[in-house]
This record gives sequence, C-alpha cells and structure tokens, in this order.
Amino acid sequence: MKIAILKERRPHENRVAATPETVKKLIALGAEITIEAGAGAAAAYTDQAYADAGANIVPDAASASAAGDIIFKIQRPMSAAEGVDEIGLLRQGQTMMAPLGALTNKELVAALAAKGVTAFALELIPRITRAQSMDILSSQANLAGYKAVLLAANNFGRIFPQMMTPGGTLSPARVFIMGVGVAGLQAIATARRLGGVVTATDVRPATKEQVQSLGGKFVAVEDDEFKAAETAGGYAKEMSAEYRAKQAALVAEHIAKQDIVITTALIPGRKAPVLVSEDMVKTMKPGSVIVDMAVEQGGNCPLSEFGKTVVKYGVRIIGPANLPAELPTDTSALFARNLLNFITPMVDKETKALKIDLSDEVVKGTLVTQGGQIVHPSLSQN
Ligand code: NAI
Repeated sequence: MKIAILKERRPHENRVAATPETVKKLIALGAEITIEAGAGAAAAYTDQAYADAGANIVPDAASASAAGDIIFKIQRPMSAAEGVDEIGLLRQGQTMMAPLGALTNKELVAALAAKGVTAFALELIPRITRAQSMDILSSQANLAGYKAVLLAANNFGRIFPQMMTPGGTLSPARVFIMGVGVAGLQAIATARRLGGVVTATDVRPATKEQVQSLGGKFVAVEDDEFKAAETAGGYAKEMSAEYRAKQAALVAEHIAKQDIVITTALIPGRKAPVLVSEDMVKTMKPGSVIVDMAVEQGGNCPLSEFGKTVVKYGVRIIGPANLPAELPTDTSALFARNLLNFITPMVDKETKALKIDLSDEVVKGTLVTQGGQIVHPSLSQN
C-alpha cells in the first residue's frame, strides 16, 4: 500500500492531509508514504519531520503522485481550467481520498470516473457514531467556529468582557450566533470564554438545550413547524416562507442590539439561507462586526463578500475564504487523524493492502467512483 500526500495548490489553503504523527501510524499499518516537498510547510510540518517519521520526500507533485496507489488530499483536485492540472496527474487504478464536494462538483466526479480513479468523497462520511472519529466536517467546523470569534474580536473596537476599571466600567459585548451546528456551538463556547453576553438561534429544536448548556440564551420562534424541523440525519430542513418571515421579524428586533453577529447557517445541498438582510445591517450600531461563515455557500448576509472584509452602514462584514486554513497546524492534525481513522478499517491486516468492503456503511456513503463508473447512489442516476 503506497500512499502519496500532495502539496495543496488551491488559493487560501495552508493545510496538509497527513502529519508526521499520522505518517508514523500509517507506516505501522503497513503503508509506504511519499510526501511532496513542502507539502506541510504552511502548516508548520517540515520535510525533515516527515522524513524522521519515515516518509520519502520527493521534489514535485508529479513524482509524488507517481509513487502513490492512494492519494490523500485536503482539497479536491484542480483541473487545467482551474490553473493546475492535478487531475491530469492521476492514473487509472489509483485511489483518491479527499473532500470532493461530490454532490455539487459533477464535472470533477465525471473526470475521476473517466480516468478510472477510485474516489472517496470524505465530506459524505455518514454521521453515525462509529464514524465520528472520521468526521472531517465536524473537526474543521469546530476550529473554524473558534477562529470566527477571534476574527470578530480582532475587528471590533471594543472588548468582549465587562471590565471595571478606575476610569469606569466597560460593558460586555453582545454576541449573536446564528446556526448552532458544530461551528456555532464552538463559537458560543469561545465567545463566552472571552466574556461576551451570548445569544443564539437555530431552526432545529434540539439546539435550544445545547445553547443553554453553554451559558447562552436561545432566541427563536418556537411554533409547531419549528418543533418538527429536523431531518433524521440531524440536519436542518428548509423552512416555510411563513416561518422565515416570523423568524426574520424576531431576529430583526434582536440584531439591532447586538455588537457581534456570527452566522454559520447551512442546509446541505442548497444555497445558504439569508438570515441577515441589508435592512437589518442598517439597524446595527456603527462598529459592529458580522462574520459570515456561510460565505462560500452564497452567504447568510447578502452584503458579505468572499475572502474580503467590507464596511457597510458602519458595520464591518467579514467573509472568510477558508477559516480552517487559518489554523493550519491544528486543523491539519485533526483532518489527518480523521483520514487515518477512515482508512484503518479498510486495510487488510494480513496483506496490508486496501480491501474495499462494499457492504460497509461508511464505504457506501463515500465511494463515488469505481471501475470507470460513478457509483454513489446520490449521483449515479444522473
Ligand atoms: P451545518 O453546517 O449543516 O449547519 C449549521 C447550522 O445551521 C445547523 O445547526 C442548522 O440547523 C442551522 N441552520 C440551517 N438553516 C438555518 C436557519 N434558517 N436559521 C438558523 N439556523 C439554521 O450543520 P453541522 O454543523 O454540520 O451539524 C448538523 C447536525 O449534525 C448537528 O445536529 C450536529 O450535532 C450533528 N452532528 C452529528 C454527528 C454525529 O452524530 N456523528 C457529527 C457532527 C454533527
């Protein structure tokens, strides 16, 4: 089993899909590891550290890819049209394990199938107990939620905690977290640790207790639709126009009193819901800060811009391009462990080779291409 780790080439990416720690563990599983020189540099993992862990370091992506039967990546491979032909480096029979955004990047999936690559889309790992240690969405969203609060604090002209000083008392920052998934929960905990007064909202009723247990106050229209608004998979449903209007009215009143708003709301497979309208931004105090964590999926605030900080109506609106990549050492460490936990059950203990069990729920959930075909049930009908 030969595994290759490539340097990430997409803009805003600093992470790497393996660390010296996971390299050692993969070698113990029977793998040979090849790393492209400099692959971990932006995440503070040196070539020397990888070499000390037992990896072979090669000078470029082509030689790394040639040396691997299995390729690990943290971003989906780029096409020539996107600037660097990473797909062109792949060959028939190779296996790729990476987040692919498979449900939305249909051309990529088709290209991988055409190449005869066996591709696993890590964002599709099912949210079952056994797969929690493999869940890349959670590990990255968790640290992104933390970083979002720090970004807000750094862009805010005031402090978070209440502070009594000889010169007078400074009042605490009011922080509103919209969307209480993995990122939102960590944002609540972080804002509380900094001393902010925290409120939060979500359309899933289960989040009310979670918000309260972290010391936050829950703000939402709690009608019958709200009480039924969670899918079996634990994700949000798209709410009716009537509910959204009621919720928007409540939020509009609340938001005018907030200093910091962090939005994290997503609905899988859809554009992010608009939660903070332009009219709401107009009512916010000058110097307030919005961090729109959903900006990549279209944004929860129509005024946010991808990868930019803009000031509108006196409010600073931040649209981070890749928050997990702003903490690359820790997010890489967690991602690399998720990937190690993903591949470990697939390695045959005797032959030390990859043995794909098509009846396994995690394999079925993530395998998108095999044998020249698109095989994932959510994609193969098209
Ligand atoms: P996500 O990133 O898909 O969405 C973030 C949050 O936005 C969600 O809480 C969602 O309900 C909320 N949202 C959507 N539309 C909204 C609206 N109009 N207004 C306000 N909020 C809105 O969610 P994430 O972080 O991936 O977590 C989703 C669920 O999966 C959670 O219940 C989480 O606890 C669960 N989960 C389960 C795992 C497991 O069992 N292995 C692992 C990780 C998460």
